[in-house]
Amino acid sequence: MTIDYKSPENKEIWGLYSLVFWLAVSVFVVVQAMLFYSVVRFRRKAGQGLPKQVHGNNRLEIGWTIVPALLLVLVAVPTVRTIINQASPPPVDSTRVKIIGHQFWWEVRYPDPTDPTNRDKDLVTANEIHIPVGKTAEFELTSHDVQHAFWVPLLGGKMDVYPNRTNYIKYTPIEPGQYFGQCAELCGTAHGFMKMYVFVQPQTDYETWFAAQKGQAAPVAAGATTAQQIDAGQKLVTGGACVTCHYIDGTSAKGRIGPNLTHFGSRTTFSSAWAQNNEANLKIWIHNPADIKPGVTTLANQQIPATGELYSRMPAFPLYTDEELTAIARYLLSLK
Ligand code: CUA
Repeated sequence: MTIDYKSPENKEIWGLYSLVFWLAVSVFVVVQAMLFYSVVRFRRKAGQGLPKQVHGNNRLEIGWTIVPALLLVLVAVPTVRTIINQASPPPVDSTRVKIIGHQFWWEVRYPDPTDPTNRDKDLVTANEIHIPVGKTAEFELTSHDVQHAFWVPLLGGKMDVYPNRTNYIKYTPIEPGQYFGQCAELCGTAHGFMKMYVFVQPQTDYETWFAAQKGQAAPVAAGATTAQQIDAGQKLVTGGACVTCHYIDGTSAKGRIGPNLTHFGSRTTFSSAWAQNNEANLKIWIHNPADIKPGVTTLANQQIPATGELYSRMPAFPLYTDEELTAIARYLLSLK
């Protein structure tokens, strides 16, 4: 059985899994064969009385103690080695990405290369993670609210994401591409929709992306979008309720509860990679998010008991007109 693994971490885990699987298959086959042999060979035959009664057999007992013990050693040694390898510190030149789980989306932060400890200088985005190919990426995982789990199946293992604790996982992708990820811990009503994408890019493409994501976006009228629409959309977004939760660099939107929208138009998806990022979906989402992601608005504006912070969930805005929704969507999409 082969798998199209995309990182050495994934290959190692798959190797261990295969070993355990085939060992288990061998044990099953041997035990079933012996059972079948015994059933046939020692079945009751006509004219026979009770068979010879035996009590204890040292050779057999030593055998069925030692063989399983050896099998366990055969599983334990590579298991421990895999755990140590997977948990070992990444190379010093690895890409560091901070991931914060929220109900129900992923906050993604890249420390500033020149000032990595200054949180205010982080590049902040959501749900779509970019990393360079051929280089280890280390993910530093925490949660804003409840327990989530970070998992990109083709790139490697999964790791729990807890509040008040930092876990780490590393992937070393060997092939550029768009990799699907999913929250792997039941975290509430919209858990099943809590997806993400990892974009593995050649180093120069990654650097271009990184540079473009730094700083402000300059909305430009293009296609069907007019300058008036961008202007109207910007006024509705930065002069309305959106600023409570969302941050858009260079505007009055300074909220930190929901996803940072500074370069929102450059993302291919939104709503934790569940919806394609286009005008039609955005209008539905802002009007009533539950039409796109059922369960997402539950508990909006309620506090997390442990910290008093707000749950970061998108409320519905049923009062915007169709024209206003179009302007908001077109403004957000112009933030490249
Ligand atoms: Cu987050 Cu499931």
